[in-house]
Amino acid sequence: MITLGDLPVPIIGAPMAGGPTTDDLVIAVSRAGGMGVLATAYRTPAQTAASVAAIRAAGVTRFGANLFVPESGVRSPEDTGPLERYRDLLRDRIPGVEPGEIAPAGTAEYDETVEVVLAAGVPWVSFTFGLPSADVVDRLHARDTAVVVTVTSVSDAHAAVARAADVVWVQGPEAGGHRSTFDVAAEPPATPLHELLPAVRAAVDVPLVASGGVADAHDVTRLLDLGADAVGVGTALLLADEAGTSAPYRAALTDPAFTETVLTRAFSGRVARGLRNRFHDDLAAHAPARFPEVNTLTGPLRRAATAAGDPHEISLWAGTGHQAARPGPAAAIVAALSTGADAEL
Ligand SMILES: Cc1cc2nc3c(=O)[nH]c(=O)nc-3n(C[C@H](O)[C@H](O)[C@H](O)COP(=O)(O)O)c2cc1C
Repeated sequence: MITLGDLPVPIIGAPMAGGPTTDDLVIAVSRAGGMGVLATAYRTPAQTAASVAAIRAAGVTRFGANLFVPESGVRSPEDTGPLERYRDLLRDRIPGVEPGEIAPAGTAEYDETVEVVLAAGVPWVSFTFGLPSADVVDRLHARDTAVVVTVTSVSDAHAAVARAADVVWVQGPEAGGHRSTFDVAAEPPATPLHELLPAVRAAVDVPLVASGGVADAHDVTRLLDLGADAVGVGTALLLADEAGTSAPYRAALTDPAFTETVLTRAFSGRVARGLRNRFHDDLAAHAPARFPEVNTLTGPLRRAATAAGDPHEISLWAGTGHQAARPGPAAAIVAALSTGADAEL
């Protein structure tokens, strides 16, 4: 089983679904001595299988895959009212672009993706938004796969370890992207990472990954000192040459006009941190806490705005350290984070 202590560099390329994480980014971070993690969300099981094959074909053996755990329980059909009202608000926002349909959330893709990572023997598999079933954990363990659960609180860390997770990924409120709360409607805890991490360290006896707001090597060292066995970085890699970050998203990250990040449900229905833009300002107050349904509704708008180069109608996920993100090869970014060689970027 992959052990965090064996990583030549204690940096994990955080999974970033929706485009930024590419096979090349995973390969580059792992080759740089850290570990890249594939994001399987919003991708078909076949795409995930192809990515795993491509990473292996590049000679990389140390890598992970991340899955979004679907919400359990079935909602009654009449529960679509909030989604219909939100859909109405999205109509005519971009002339000629119809919002996505209200589709019931299913578990088929998740179940199939679990089978893909099992069949492929992906060595490190992380779960976000909830716990994998005990059966899935047992089957992964039978393949010597490290099971990882992303948590935002001490109580969820306890639950992860009770479910036999080998590693707990502690995600602080500074993190870019979705917060890994187990309950979609819950407001995520605000305890800063430098307080949450030692609390989790004291509560559970498994290796920890810490992530959220990491801007430089100083942050990495501090989190290692606070008890992390490795540090996860997302935003710091968004401008990497190998990242699949879209052109308007990249431009916004380097545009001084985008000064702050906010927590918002406007794009997906789940709380996520991103650069503040018009879409958030107009819609955050109205977005129902429904994932992935809201994500499906906003999809056509986000795709059209990306094609048109409009950063105000797309999700610009970014952590609080976004101003430190720099372009360049991922290997240089990982090296700078682990050695403090910022000047070389
Ligand atoms: C664009 C983007 C997409 C993300 N997608 C995922 C994902 O698919 N799965 C996941 O567990 N976390 C996801 N995250 C959260 C990261 O894994 C990680 O917790 C976060 O990036 C760390 O904070 P930082 O961005 O400040 O470094 C995403 C973050 C970003 C910025």
